[in-house]
Amino acid sequence: MLFLGISAFNVAQEKSSSEITILVPPAGHAETIIKVNGKVIDGEGGTRKYKAVLEKGKEAKLTIEALIEPNNYTKITRTKSIIVKAGVNAKLDLTIKDKKTDKIVVRWVPTPDDIVIKMGEIAKITKNDIIYDLGCGDAVMLILPIKKFGAKKGVGIDIDPKMIEIAKKKAKEAKLEDKLDLRVGDILNVKDLSDASVVLLYIGDDLGERLSPVLQKTLKPGARIVSHRFTLGDWAPTKTLTVKGEDSYEYELHLWVVGEKKELKKSDKQK
Ligand SMILES: C[S@@+](CC[C@H](N)C(=O)[O-])C[C@H]1O[C@@H](n2cnc3c(N)ncnc32)[C@H](O)[C@@H]1O
Repeated sequence: MLFLGISAFNVAQEKSSSEITILVPPAGHAETIIKVNGKVIDGEGGTRKYKAVLEKGKEAKLTIEALIEPNNYTKITRTKSIIVKAGVNAKLDLTIKDKKTDKIVVRWVPTPDDIVIKMGEIAKITKNDIIYDLGCGDAVMLILPIKKFGAKKGVGIDIDPKMIEIAKKKAKEAKLEDKLDLRVGDILNVKDLSDASVVLLYIGDDLGERLSPVLQKTLKPGARIVSHRFTLGDWAPTKTLTVKGEDSYEYELHLWVVGEKKELKKSDKQK
């Protein structure tokens, strides 16, 4: 009996390892970091290996995160879970964009004041307009157009509470608190923009691609979107212009008019 008891105890303790091969997006601005259940694992390059040691016959859920920096202003967190069975190897592909769960955050870089005014002119902002800035930073793209063109209202959303605090301070200084609605939030959770007649953006191509469907589906016909530099996935702009800033740099600005097709250039029309 004693012998049987010891043997059962030994079986319960027996371990078995499983190798998880993780396919990782290539390094951009920085090497992609991989975390397994919250802990960074060693390695670099497009393939990482993780050894999970489990009791024989058991399985475990691993949460694997890729912290991706495609450029020096964008951070993407891609998270997937996998059930690993003791002794069975597995593979997880983190190279594929997940439009539902990827978290994308772009760091704050302000648009210069003169470029904001140019964007307002391109959007033909009037006193009837309600302007949204998704990723509003210090709210420069709301405060200046309200002052210059007399827009009715501005709505700004930013993921960084510190930026919203600064934006609120600037709104107060400009005596525009009653015209501005400034909120902390992730713009990837915005579901309805039907209230906006103008959307001003400076958010990077990755966020732009993700926002594109909600802009296309929920903005009213005639609404204008003007983006500083970045595009909206495969939604072709109505017009793209390059303007010279007061700092002598060139700025590319894109305009989309909801319901209007891309403006054909003379050369396109001849085709
Ligand atoms: C490039 S700055 C542009 C700021 C301002 N619109 C301008 O042009 O001066 C991008 C801003 O978007 C905010 N942001 C980045 N990712 C975001 C997200 N997922 N949801 C909401 N805001 C975000 C950042 O905190 C930053 O303030």
